[in-house]
Amino acid sequence: MLRLENIHKTYGSLKVIHDLSCELSQGEMLGIIGPNGAGKTTLFSAISGQITVDRGKIFFMEKDVTSLPAFKRCSAGIGRTFQIPRPFHGMTIFENARVAANFGAGLSGKKADDFAIRAIELSGLDDRLNTPCSSLSLLDRKRLELARALSTDPKLLLLDEIAGGLIDNEIQELIGILKVIQKRGISIIWIEHIVHALTSCVDRLLVINFGSKIAAGDPNTVMALPEVHEIYMGLDVENAD
Ligand SMILES: Nc1ncnc2c1ncn2[C@@H]1O[C@H](COP(=O)(O)OP(=O)(O)O)[C@@H](O)[C@H]1O
Ligand SMILES: [Mg+2]
Repeated sequence: MLRLENIHKTYGSLKVIHDLSCELSQGEMLGIIGPNGAGKTTLFSAISGQITVDRGKIFFMEKDVTSLPAFKRCSAGIGRTFQIPRPFHGMTIFENARVAANFGAGLSGKKADDFAIRAIELSGLDDRLNTPCSSLSLLDRKRLELARALSTDPKLLLLDEIAGGLIDNEIQELIGILKVIQKRGISIIWIEHIVHALTSCVDRLLVINFGSKIAAGDPNTVMALPEVHEIYMGLDVENAD
């Protein structure tokens, strides 16, 4: 479904992504961990086309999308959430999702309405369709971010730290939603600092540091590697507050 081949990205003299290769199968859920500044969000921006890579290739559904602009990758089926969500505060939940269906998936009329409503239902916000999004709790803002990404009808969903700041019960709720999304055949890549949340549901885990792959594979096997353990200890300290 997705194949990254030796991708590189630098900002000035800073190598943010260095020779990274990775594959994702149809229906798979891949977790990504790595310290702050490791290049995780940049990797998502490279996949979804908000930035272009300096070197390397990105294939999605066997098509080379390396130089496609973001809106074309979105309509091809790559949907993402943002680490810093920017919903339209003056709009309701439904209106926000509908804008995403409109501009992301290129849908209009009843089809856009249906997509938006289905995405909102899947995200657990269907009892609040007409609630203005300025009045939402943190969990509901995370759900809205998810609904907006789902409204673009993705085949691949990129989630950037959507569990950050949530309490354990809320994280479990979110994991339940993600499992339903995966069952519907949508592939997921989930960047998260909360490692136990990832290991409880992802099929594979990718660890990156300084823009390079440190390890990838079965979550428990990967977490048991000494080099990953060292990074994980660092993450634990970051999350201690
Ligand atoms: N547009 C940009 N211009 C310059 N440096 C950037 C830009 N975006 C990200 N960076 C730098 O790239 C590194 C990786 O950032 P990011 O991908 O956001 O890391 P992560 O999501 O793993 O915390 C950081 O050092 C960050 O400061
Ligand atoms: Mg980030």
